[in-house]
Amino acid sequence: MKQRKNSLEERSPAFTFGSGKQGRTLFCDQLPAEQLARRYGTPLFVYSATALRRHVDLFARAFAAQQHTVCYSVKANSNLSLLRLLASLGCGFDVVSGGELQRVMQAGEKAAASAVFSGVGKTAAEMDLAIAAGILLFNLESASELDLLAQRAARLKKTARVSFRVNPDVKADTHPYISTGLRQHKFGVPINEAREFYRRAAALPYLDPIGVSVHIGSQITDTTPFAEAMQRVLSLVRDLSADGLNISFVDAGGGLGIHYQNASQAVTARDIRAYAKALCRPLRRTGLHLLIEPGRSIVAAAGVLLTRALYAKENHGKQFLIVDAAMNDLIRPALYGAHHEIVPATPRPATKDAPAMKMDIVGPICESGDFFARDREMPPVLGGDLLAILDSGAYGMSLSSNYNTRPRAAELLVDGKKVKQIRRRETFEDMIRNEQ
Ligand code: LLP
Repeated sequence: MKQRKNSLEERSPAFTFGSGKQGRTLFCDQLPAEQLARRYGTPLFVYSATALRRHVDLFARAFAAQQHTVCYSVKANSNLSLLRLLASLGCGFDVVSGGELQRVMQAGEKAAASAVFSGVGKTAAEMDLAIAAGILLFNLESASELDLLAQRAARLKKTARVSFRVNPDVKADTHPYISTGLRQHKFGVPINEAREFYRRAAALPYLDPIGVSVHIGSQITDTTPFAEAMQRVLSLVRDLSADGLNISFVDAGGGLGIHYQNASQAVTARDIRAYAKALCRPLRRTGLHLLIEPGRSIVAAAGVLLTRALYAKENHGKQFLIVDAAMNDLIRPALYGAHHEIVPATPRPATKDAPAMKMDIVGPICESGDFFARDREMPPVLGGDLLAILDSGAYGMSLSSNYNTRPRAAELLVDGKKVKQIRRRETFEDMIRNEQ
């Protein structure tokens, strides 16, 4: 198979065009997408182990000069096989529920020891599970959470390491639903009141305040707000040291964005280096251990959603392409107006009968919000053609649902020429299992 040469070697080797039996065709690692779709059906999520390794490696290189742990954010894609792979690459984990923590515990015997637990609403049962598992750090977000964790830890007679997630009041340019670092958001404790929270925590037995955390939002491509938030956090760490606390971890959260509009360079070494520079500069010579919680930048570009075109139709002069995937499989366009590049797996040349044209690419669900692209210029696509919705590895499957009683898609992990089904397609019986 000849891989198409890309202008920049930055391009992840995972999803590129090469020559196959029917001419130029999309490969997932070294396997033709068409072959995978025929064997496993559509809609189908396909992830590339090569791309995952590459992304983890980009982080390792960019952050090499700083003591750090990459705590992969499980919510982006929580498939057990992916978690296992990431654990084997040395990643820790960021979890936000007992369920996510249980997944991490299944992924590796020691994985929980490098897990951080974030989220504004941890329940007593979730706290108990995490205390017993001996997680690395609880990121607390309110006084009530502090009180409950103190109670639970005392009851279990086990010390819990804690940090407060501070709300730095830093603006980041992203979709309002996924911006989290402003005073009007529900997240964190106000940074200017944080010293008082730490004083309270330090006075409680079974709690060990050892970190400060921050997370300003997701899909942030400008690194300035990350640097700003870190500076504010570091200034708090200095105050806390003056108060006699021994802070050894700074958790910078996740949030680094990718370039959905430019899928051939969705994640570049340059981006990750710029991000590392923004976070690490304020940390220089502090001896602090940095935790980062990337989700999207690790898995988004390592996955595609393959979908079959069902029908083309025209309504009042507008072209629609109806595909077999829908908003229940990938809700990002419907929920955030998100852009995903969409390519035919085996592109056809444009002809007079089948020209390139603008179209809406939509799913079969009974809502006008069920679209993947609107007024998108596309090469010719006919019913039966296979399409790949790129950069769908993050917040695709993890946000999927059974809406319209549609079974959730299957998931594959490809590694070179090998393929493994890492989640089978749901059946009707799976969907009704818990109903009377
Ligand atoms: N840490 C915390 C505390 C978070 O809340 C999040 C994401 C992350 C880390 C990971 O952020 P990432 O590196 O993936 O940006 N469903 C939305 C994204 C929601 C993000 C929620 N929190 C989407 O599809 O764009």
